[in-house]
Amino acid sequence: MKVLMINGSPNEKGCTYTALSEVAGQLNQQGVETQIYHIGSGAIAGCINCGKCAKTGYCIFNEDGVNECIDLLSQADGLVVGSPVYYAAPTGQICAFLDRLFFLKSHKYAYKPAAAIVNCRRGGASAAYDRLNKYFTISSMPVVPSQYWNSTHGFTPEQIRKDGEGMQTMRTLGRNMAWMLKCFDLAKDQVPLPEKEERISTHFIMD
Ligand SMILES: Cc1cc2nc3c(=O)[nH]c(=O)nc-3n(C[C@H](O)[C@H](O)[C@H](O)COP(=O)(O)O)c2cc1C
Repeated sequence: MKVLMINGSPNEKGCTYTALSEVAGQLNQQGVETQIYHIGSGAIAGCINCGKCAKTGYCIFNEDGVNECIDLLSQADGLVVGSPVYYAAPTGQICAFLDRLFFLKSHKYAYKPAAAIVNCRRGGASAAYDRLNKYFTISSMPVVPSQYWNSTHGFTPEQIRKDGEGMQTMRTLGRNMAWMLKCFDLAKDQVPLPEKEERISTHFIMD
């Protein structure tokens, strides 16, 4: 079993990485493999709604890691996305990255457990966390819970390590995710996936 962990911070080994590593430690202890994927500090284009990915399964933009992550996530059993909090939201870069990772492709990720974690110095964690969870709950991805809403607090990795409750929340998340993955794995031959209806798409307009 493998979990893809996307680090949405421009800082490769910063606070977000430190928090993701605490989750990874518990997953690894439970026999679950992890891969931390850094989205980098370069420009990440936003989705331009061209719809080409509906035909090819991939984004037309190849300059960043989105297309690589489409394959990595399709093959993974679970997903953790981490982001620093910028103005009470996930970073613009991770939102652009996830828009293109998920738009018209999320059927490939259905039923894979997912979790978001955020790091902030002081405020806005809850709003950023909610925004990231929106990608999962629109994609039939079960959201993995922890003992608190998943945030760590600090400005440096050293400070994050001193956030006792934040780090414990990360460890609990890792163990809960490992447990959920093992339950799903045991159930896969016993319980069929839920039946899917043909999709209805309405725009609140009465024709
Ligand atoms: C543009 C910008 C906006 C930020 N906005 C917030 C904020 O709203 N709340 C907060 O507590 N920290 C804010 N911060 C601090 C970052 O959350 C903090 O530096 C980051 O979580 C560190 O994580 P990293 O080392 O993984 O990048 C902001 C930082 C930047 C650069």
